[in-house]
Amino acid sequence: MRVAIEPDEKTAAQVAATCIAAAVRRKPHCVLALATGSTVIPVYHALVEISRRERLSFARTTAFHLDEYAGLAGDDPRSFRRFLREHLLARVDFDAARHHAPDGLAADLDAECHRYEAALAAAGGIDLALLGLGRNGHLAFNEPGASLAGRTHVELLMRETRSDGRPRLAITMGIATLLESRACLLVAFGAEKAHAAAQAIEGPLSASTPASALQLHADVTAVLDEPAASRLERAPYYREQEAALRERTGQPRL
Ligand code: GLP
Repeated sequence: MRVAIEPDEKTAAQVAATCIAAAVRRKPHCVLALATGSTVIPVYHALVEISRRERLSFARTTAFHLDEYAGLAGDDPRSFRRFLREHLLARVDFDAARHHAPDGLAADLDAECHRYEAALAAAGGIDLALLGLGRNGHLAFNEPGASLAGRTHVELLMRETRSDGRPRLAITMGIATLLESRACLLVAFGAEKAHAAAQAIEGPLSASTPASALQLHADVTAVLDEPAASRLERAPYYREQEAALRERTGQPRL
């Protein structure tokens, strides 16, 4: 896993946005899997800035949500669909027809999970998955204990994950679904993520920390700010690795 430790949240968000922009530039028709949550807000805003400044087009890009609440309509202000539209998709030239999210109102949620997996496969799979990190180590809405071989499924959220006024059930891509992405970008900012980040990056591979499954993936970049990286034992080594990589490849930075 490549670990980039940035001095603050703003810089980290810009670095993550730059990675996504590079993926879209390399392959304008790429398939992105996109997270919701407070961490990705500055990432999306930085991406909007880049797209305006550098005239980066998302017109051919496809987006799949990592997850969505069960029981909420897509235009409900609490839905992730609405979140993604407001923070990113409606602010760039994104084609609404290429915006895919699980239907939280589906009568048969399990059938909806199958449909979502099939839609993902039909789109050619995920090129880049942008992933946040739950304080308890969850990935998308795969809570501790979720199968590391799981596919898109209905998950009961843990008490610490539930938020007021939102449903307790969600549809989430499974860990196996996520691991099939061609590349993953994990973002974690703030001291409250330090424990989960250390567990995910350096802890044992365990369903108790679903994000630790990323250790099995060959192309993961984790972008952390200093507070989120504060419990990483190998932080000095990651910094050296980044410097060595830049020296070897001439790449200015991530
Ligand atoms: C939710 C989402 C996750 C996200 C997590 C972190 O649980 N389902 O995909 O990574 O929140 O949220 P935040 O960035 O607000 O800490």
